[in-house]
Amino acid sequence: MKEKFTATAPGKIILFGEHAVVYQRPAIAIPVHQLVATTTIQPGYPNQSGRIWLDAPQVFSQTELDLDSNQPLGVLLRLFANAAHIKEYPPIIISISSTIPVASGMGSGASISVATLRALQGYLEVELPVETLNSIAYQVEKIYHGTPSGIDNTVITYEQPIYFIRNQPFQKLNLHEDFKLVIADTGIRSTTLEVVTDVRKGWQEDPQFFNNLFDQIEKIVNEARRSIENGPITDLGPLMTKNQAVLKVMGVSCPRLDYLVDAALFAGALGAKLTGGGRGGNMIALVNESKVMEVRNALMHAGAKSTWVTTESPNNHHEHG
Ligand code: PMV
Repeated sequence: MKEKFTATAPGKIILFGEHAVVYQRPAIAIPVHQLVATTTIQPGYPNQSGRIWLDAPQVFSQTELDLDSNQPLGVLLRLFANAAHIKEYPPIIISISSTIPVASGMGSGASISVATLRALQGYLEVELPVETLNSIAYQVEKIYHGTPSGIDNTVITYEQPIYFIRNQPFQKLNLHEDFKLVIADTGIRSTTLEVVTDVRKGWQEDPQFFNNLFDQIEKIVNEARRSIENGPITDLGPLMTKNQAVLKVMGVSCPRLDYLVDAALFAGALGAKLTGGGRGGNMIALVNESKVMEVRNALMHAGAKSTWVTTESPNNHHEHG
């Protein structure tokens, strides 16, 4: 056992296909490495086996973890212990911090799960298959979301751009060329569970209407995949704006998101949309290099709480901002 072990996991962006992905349509997501969840594990007080202290004021209010509880971290620790054949945990202190805004469509919950699983592995010196870590993170997502598609935990665990269909192995996307996104936070916190539940209610009341929206999104996602893999990447812009229009009809946008999308487009973005659960959280805009500052300034002027710029590259991921 180590003295101390620290692990991280990135945030994520859904480029296309959120919500429809819950209904078996494809979606595309990328990891965002400049936003990161960090978990450090270190020894707790001696002779207190089975006791786990928590130091994560940004994300969890408890200071000691009840391993029998249905709290996300309690469930994560139980599933990890089962998979790694750990009978009883040694006394440990788990410290978690995150630069990913919570409840804002950037995968904060799944990143915290993955960082914590990686830290447990490192500290306890066990190594589980990456599929097992992904599947534990998925089980924990169910506590946050109810009926998650699994896209968040998958893109964060594998840290690659993915084309994802629920209950199917994901496909890694090879990017044809670089592209830049400006990300902007509305500052409005919105729980994915609530929005996903509302979409489900709508779908149950009028399945034909909602299935039609999901089908429109599926078409957009598949067109987007073609331009991500074969170019031209500028085609992604209008597809993003089209995806946003469908999400708006679905009722998962909100006035502030619409306002930021319009501001980005007016400032010269090639396309813009919300990302993740919606009704708050973050939006993304595709921008040419020459427009990055203009779009970023326009978004700040329009009331964004923070902005980031991320560059996706064919070989690896470079982010700055
Ligand atoms: O809001 P986030 O980052 O948890 O993303 C949710 C994405 C949805 O498609 C709305 C739900 C899901 O489980 O895929």
